[in-house]
Amino acid sequence: MTRFLILSAVLAGPALAGPALAGDTSPAQLIAGYETAAGAPADAERGRALFLSTQTGGKPDTPSCTTCHGADVTRAGQTRTGKEIAPLAPSATPDRFTDSARVEKWLGRNCNSVIGRDCTPGEKADLLAWLAAQ
Ligand code: HEC
Repeated sequence: MTRFLILSAVLAGPALAGPALAGDTSPAQLIAGYETAAGAPADAERGRALFLSTQTGGKPDTPSCTTCHGADVTRAGQTRTGKEIAPLAPSATPDRFTDSARVEKWLGRNCNSVIGRDCTPGEKADLLAWLAAQ
C-alpha cells in the first residue's frame, strides 16, 4: 500500500490540484464514523443521486459535483481554472478517502460551493458509500 501511495504521488505529481497528504483512515472507517454521527446507515444510491443532482443553492458556476468531477468518477475531472483533478474513484486513484482531514476539508468546501451549506453527516455517509465503491 505504501508503495502504491508513493508511486501514485510520483506519477500524479504537480498535475494534481490537491496536496498529497498521508493517510490516517480507510473509506470504511470514514463511512462508519459518519453513520454513527448521523444515527442511520449510509445509502449509496442516495449518495449517487446527490452527487449527480443539479442544485440551485450554491454558487451559480458550480451547480453539481459533476461540474468539476464529471459524471464518470473513474475519469479525471477539472477545476474551474482547468487544472486536472484525479478521478474520485478509488479503483482509479487508490489513495482516495484515506485521509480524514482531506475528506473533511474538501467536502466542506465542495458542499458549500454546490449546495450552499455543509453536507450533513448522513449526506457525507451516503456520498462516500457510493464514491468508495466506484
Ligand atoms: C469547484 C470544483 C469542485 C466541485 C464543484 C466539487 N469538487 Fe470535490 N474536489 C475538488 C478538488 C479541486 C478537490 C481536491 C483535489 C483532489 O482531491 O484531487 C476535490 C476533492 C474532493 C474530495 C476529497 C477526495 C479525497 O481524496 O479524499 C471529495 C470527497 C470530493 N471532492 C467530493 C465532492 C462532492 C461530493 C461534490 C459535490 C457536493 C464535489 N466534490 C464538488 C473540486 C470540486
